[in-house]
Formats: sequence, C-alpha cells, structure tokens
Amino acid sequence: MTAGAITAGAGFPLPPNATIGLVGGGQLGRMSALAAARLGYRCHILTREADSPAAQVAAGVTLSDYADPASLRAFAAAVDVISFEFENVSAAGLELLAALRPVRPAPAVLRISQDRVAEKRFLNQAGIATAPWEAVDSLEGLHAAAARIGLPAVLKTTRYGYDGKGQARPRRSEDLAAAFAALAPKPLILEGFVDFACEVSVIVARGADGAVVAFDTVENRHRDGILDLTLAPARVPDSVAAAAQDIARKVAVALDLVGVLAVEMFVDRDGRVLVNEIAPRPHNSGHWTIDACPASQFELHIRAIAGLPLPPASRHADAAMQNLVGPEGLARWPAVLAAPGLIPHLYGKTEASPGRKMGHVTTLFPRGGLPGEFGVAAALGPARG
Ligand SMILES: Nc1ncnc2c1ncn2[C@@H]1O[C@H](COP(=O)(O)OP(=O)(O)O)[C@@H](O)[C@H]1O
Ligand SMILES: [Mg+2]
Repeated sequence: MTAGAITAGAGFPLPPNATIGLVGGGQLGRMSALAAARLGYRCHILTREADSPAAQVAAGVTLSDYADPASLRAFAAAVDVISFEFENVSAAGLELLAALRPVRPAPAVLRISQDRVAEKRFLNQAGIATAPWEAVDSLEGLHAAAARIGLPAVLKTTRYGYDGKGQARPRRSEDLAAAFAALAPKPLILEGFVDFACEVSVIVARGADGAVVAFDTVENRHRDGILDLTLAPARVPDSVAAAAQDIARKVAVALDLVGVLAVEMFVDRDGRVLVNEIAPRPHNSGHWTIDACPASQFELHIRAIAGLPLPPASRHADAAMQNLVGPEGLARWPAVLAAPGLIPHLYGKTEASPGRKMGHVTTLFPRGGLPGEFGVAAALGPARG
C-alpha cells in the first residue's frame, strides 16, 4: 500500500475545523454537511456527480466514481474521518479507505446493509423478526421458495435497490418467470408479503463511547415505492412504539454502530413489529428532526462520527414531513414558499426527473397535537399532491 505520503488525520474527538469526508453527493450528504458546518467542521464530498447537492454546500469535493483507487486515496488524504450517505461502495474500495482513515460506521456495517440477504440473516441471528425470506439464484429456486413462503410475495434484488426499485410483486406462480427475468443483478431474495397495518421507523444514534439515543418512533407512508409522508410520532399503541424502539437499539448495539441508523419496520395486523430493512446513515424518515428537534439526525450523525457526546434525541414538537418528488413536487415550490407554517427544504438538484426527491416540507404541531388525517392534509396544504 502506498499510504506513506499521507499525513495522519486529527484524533478524536475531532477538533473544530477538522474535515469530515462524506462518500456520496446527494441530499443526505447536503444536510449532513450543513449540520457539520454548524458544529465548526468542514465536509469534503466524494461523488461522481458534478454540481451535486452535497458539494454545493461543502468545503471540498473529489469528483470520481467510488472505485478508482487513486481518487479514493486523494479523498482519504483530504479528510480526518470518513462516513457515507451512499452505501454501495465496493468491498475493495471500503478496505482501501479503512486502511487510510477511520471509517464510521465500520465497513462491516456497510457490508451487512448493502446486501438484503446478509441483512436479514444478521437480523434473525440477533433474534429480530423479519418477514420470511429466502435467497434465490435460479428460476427453479424461486418456484421452490414461493412454494415454501407463499404468494403473493415480494421479489427483490439483494443489492442496489432504493425507492422501490429492483422489486417485483408476484401474485401467482405464473408471475414468477417474468419477475425473475425482470430483476438484475442476481441473486435475488424472495420475501413474504406483509399485509401491514402501517410502516414505522426509528432513527437511532450510537456514539463512539457506546451511548445510544433514539428519536421517537414515526409512521411512514409510501407512494409508488417512494416515501411520501412521515408522521412524528407514529399513531400506534405505546407497546408498538416501544417495541420498535427496543429493536432499533438492539440493532445498533449488535452492529457495534458508530453513527446513526434507520430501522424500517412493518407493524402487522396483530401489532407485531417486523424489520423490513436497515440503513446505517441519516434517512428520509428522519428529516422532520431538523425542524422538530433541538439536535437533528444529521447533527447526531456528525457528533457520533466526530467522537463528540450525543445529546438527547428529544422532540419539542409533533411533525409531518412530506417529500417533494419529481416535476410535480418541484412545481409546488412557489406555493410551499407562500404558505405560512410550511418549513421548506430544497436540495439544489437541477434535473427534476420523475420519482426524484427534489426537496421536502415539514409542518410542526405542539407536542401531543398531531392532528388526524384531514388535519395533517390541511396543514400540508399546497405540499400535498
Ligand atoms: N415484504 C414486503 N411486504 C409488503 N410490503 C413490502 C415488502 N417489502 C417492501 N415493501 C414495500 O415496499 C417499500 C420499499 O421496499 P424496501 O424493501 O424498503 O426497499 P427500498 O430499498 O426501495 O426502500 C416498503 O417501504 C414497503 O412499503
Ligand atoms: Mg426502504
């Protein structure tokens, strides 16, 4: 390895003006960089996208794909600690970065969350319930898995899926061949279809000292596979909210996490909580924390990876967050700006392609005052599609 020319990074806790390296240039990196700036840190972004949302607000950028060793070395040399908003860095790339600088969360955590099979195996081994699942690498294997798990089911790629991409929903055995052919890369995973009452998530943070804090359990509604609405807190029985909290804390500890982690869960019709997936980074379902909490998910992430103490993940308001997606979402921007009570966030993306997250809005209610469906819709007003 040719790390000789690279000077050592700053120690922990990171001193003011230290540089945090973030892999990925999207809105999660942008909001992380803004939180880092408020704590007196600089961010340096590794992204393959020119003029990315994160780079627009960062002190430095390395423009490259996530695999080129020379670029990864130059990026590492420019920073004191490395974290991620983009999870799909190759194993070799992760090893190279980890040899040069502290990587938080650790590469082992990313390797689990990158792969739905590794993720579900890890969760089940930690005693955490998921939908029934089976790895699938052939059409015969898919038929056998469907016979055991039952249909309808959800067939997913094990890697690179996001916003519902890389998924199919076979209902009958005649659907299996087309679903198998449509999805790439292989292998795939077949999951039992969960007829959920609602979806919830918990954002949990764990510090370098092992301290764990979690934001309240929230409810998520998806539209076309993309998160549409988050309600904080979730309107679920206390026992369900508490079960979700326990699961999130357990996952963070079992992963030996340093940073924040989102745990997406299903609440089934019997009130059982099943984990859908985990993401070891700030998450769309935690954007409400920017406006409703003294310290947001992004601040907690930066604090954790910088080795700073974690403040409580407390909430001074109830909140509803709605994404502004694609050209329709962007078209609502002027009305959002004109509406009192909507807190606007725009990500600086120049192309509003369909399904792309362009921004979000948050509206706050007094603690305990989250209204019912019509009240939320009325409060979001012009942000509703
Ligand atoms: N096994 C399942 N049963 C029922 N709905 C599912 C299942 N898996 C995924 N979904 C639905 O699809 C959405 C996106 O799937 P998810 O696995 O979270 O992938 P992504 O990485 O795209 O977020 C979920 O939030 C949920 O609404
Ligand atoms: Mg998801």
